[in-house]
Amino acid sequence: MKNKFCYKNKHLIESKELTKKDIECFLNESEKYIKFNKKKLKKLNTLKGRTIFNLFFEDSTRTRTSFEVAAKRLGADLINVSVKDSSINKGETLLDTMTTINSMSPDVLIVRHPEEGISKKISKIVNACVINAGDGSYEHPTQALLDALTIKKRFGEFKKLKIAICGDILHSRVARSNIEMLSKLGSKINVVGPKSLIPNSIKKVNIFNDMKSGLKNCDIVMMLRIQKERIITKHVPNEKIYFEKYGLDYKKLSYAKKNAFVMHPGPMNREVEIESKLADDITRSLIQEQVTMGVAIRMACLEILINNRD
Ligand code: NCD
Repeated sequence: MKNKFCYKNKHLIESKELTKKDIECFLNESEKYIKFNKKKLKKLNTLKGRTIFNLFFEDSTRTRTSFEVAAKRLGADLINVSVKDSSINKGETLLDTMTTINSMSPDVLIVRHPEEGISKKISKIVNACVINAGDGSYEHPTQALLDALTIKKRFGEFKKLKIAICGDILHSRVARSNIEMLSKLGSKINVVGPKSLIPNSIKKVNIFNDMKSGLKNCDIVMMLRIQKERIITKHVPNEKIYFEKYGLDYKKLSYAKKNAFVMHPGPMNREVEIESKLADDITRSLIQEQVTMGVAIRMACLEILINNRD
């Protein structure tokens, strides 16, 4: 059915391009998949006969596998392209690889790559829908959507919430996408971290350099991984000192609201940005819930984009 959904674009590249209504469209459509994913038999025909490519040029566990689970539960065929075995290693350019795959008539290309803006470039040269599954330090829209869905299921609303996003903001595409989406949904955002890990360009947030003032009155404390693979300067003190100042433990969590919840997109550096015991405490941590919501939101994304392309 044409134009079934209020999100009309066939790509999902940047949170910046989404309106509040668009975000709500993805959140609402994923509700049925949250229920469906609790069933014993998890197979639909919604995307039967569709071909989806996972093209991950950076490491991933959660994002790659949850797109695969989402695609397969909807009945699509999913092909994982491993960079290690691809012709990129023979000198083929990324855009040549994409046009090659495009010639096989895929329906969706899910792309993760270290280069900022690459998904946008790819979307201009292929016929398939393109999903940005993380481009460098820039954006990761489906992570922000799954985080929003996790928050919606726990709090029911966004407007009254104050959310602290803490740690390595500078290198975090998760932070950038979340700041965009959660502020559009009406939440107040505090960004907390050492000066060296907070970019000057950051907008729409209050900035704090210490956890005590940054977490005050917050309903959610979202921790971020120190992105060692992207840090080129020596601006981060050693891990022990970092944990003492910015690592989330029960004591620092007590600066937030009494029943505040903890989130983390994973993968975690335990005892660097988060105390291991707290991360595993299901009375305070939504980390496993985030992964569960990731499958539902990605099912909704695949369904909506393919419908828009048709
Ligand atoms: C994040 C990513 O890759 O941007 N992880 C994820 O998608 N779940 C965050 C990170 O790597 O730290």
